[in-house]
Amino acid sequence: MIIKKFRDSDELSQAATKKFIELANQAIANRGRFLVSLSGGSTPMKLYERLANEKQDWSRVYFFWGDERCVPVDDPGNTYGQTKKILFDKIGTTNIHRVRSELEPDSASADYTKTLSGFAEAPFDFPRFDLVLLGMGEDGHTASLFPGSPVDVTTPTLAVTAQYQDRPANRVTLTPLVFNQAREVWFLVTGENKAEILRTVLKGEHNPQRYPAQRIQPVNGNLVWMIDEAAGRFLTDVTQ
Ligand code: 6PG
Repeated sequence: MIIKKFRDSDELSQAATKKFIELANQAIANRGRFLVSLSGGSTPMKLYERLANEKQDWSRVYFFWGDERCVPVDDPGNTYGQTKKILFDKIGTTNIHRVRSELEPDSASADYTKTLSGFAEAPFDFPRFDLVLLGMGEDGHTASLFPGSPVDVTTPTLAVTAQYQDRPANRVTLTPLVFNQAREVWFLVTGENKAEILRTVLKGEHNPQRYPAQRIQPVNGNLVWMIDEAAGRFLTDVTQ
């Protein structure tokens, strides 16, 4: 695991953009395509805005989501809808594999499992993502894996209902089964409101049931925490 600390969210998103493009072109050169699972929430939005300005062959980049809120795409709480405005409409890509959030959660979850199987990489019936982007809530949740939820899930997707801030409660999430097969996983965590939970998750009690972000342990991939000074104020042994 690597922890990279940046001065602020601008410097973080600039570095993340550069590395995203690098990883994408490496994957395209090696395997002909780049499969990326995007995160919701506010933290990655600056990255998405910067990516929209990159000169990139997007035809080989396939976009998925680590989770989605089960609201219509034009609802402000829909992650795909937010990302479409700031990224997809600008780069004109069609390689978008969203959660069909207009369905009932269980149907949307089953439908997404089917979507993933179309990109399966043996021996799994889901893709080995080249990059997974994740955020982390103040309670240690990630994607839509919330504290107290079952740890030993054996399905690639799950329909969940969970309250967090004023966000839509019904969601579909990928599970650690999928996340932990990724070639690279990035947590993007910024802001002083995340400092306490970040210290606990990275240096405190190991309790994946209580702190779902701790469930993310890539089996054969890189785990990178990209944080800013404010979120990392209690962490010293980091890469500057
Ligand atoms: C979502 C995300 C969720 C998010 C965290 C952090 O759909 O909301 O998947 O896991 O990453 O809640 O959100 P912020 O980046 O807004 O702090």
